[in-house]
Amino acid sequence: MESMPEKKIILVIHGPNLNMLGKREPEVYGKATLDDINTALKETGNHLGVCVETFQSNHEGVIVDKIQEIMNSHHGLIINPGAYTHTSVAIRDALLLLSFPVVEVHLSNIYKRETFRHHSMIAGVATGQISGLGGDGYILALEYLARQCRAIVHN
Ligand code: DQA
Repeated sequence: MESMPEKKIILVIHGPNLNMLGKREPEVYGKATLDDINTALKETGNHLGVCVETFQSNHEGVIVDKIQEIMNSHHGLIINPGAYTHTSVAIRDALLLLSFPVVEVHLSNIYKRETFRHHSMIAGVATGQISGLGGDGYILALEYLARQCRAIVHN
């Protein structure tokens, strides 16, 4: 008898200040808290048949450590690196270690904002980017990654 394939694991990394969602500039980032976003992601993961893990850190090195940790265990990554998007060579370099798809997500449209936000250090190494769709951006990224996971199972 064929055994059921193990559930694929998608990690969602939230960078600095995203733990303040709900309180932080709600006119830019919306009223949903990080808990609201994580709960919606986990529920959607259940429907899609993938396991969603979430992680938040305000520290660049901790985010690098986390990316290194998932190299051989996970199947997809959603990352909103917050302000590190615009500065972090270290996070960019860590992402290059991964052999599975990575989606960069931003709640706000970074291209409509201050010019220092227009450049992403991450975009050039991510599979794709979603910017400006609020919390829906994470769900859409998860749908894409779950689809990619199904393609692995069926190949
Ligand atoms: C952000 C955009 C960044 O420029 C900012 O520093 C953030 C949040 C977003 O989700 O829109 O912290 O990544």
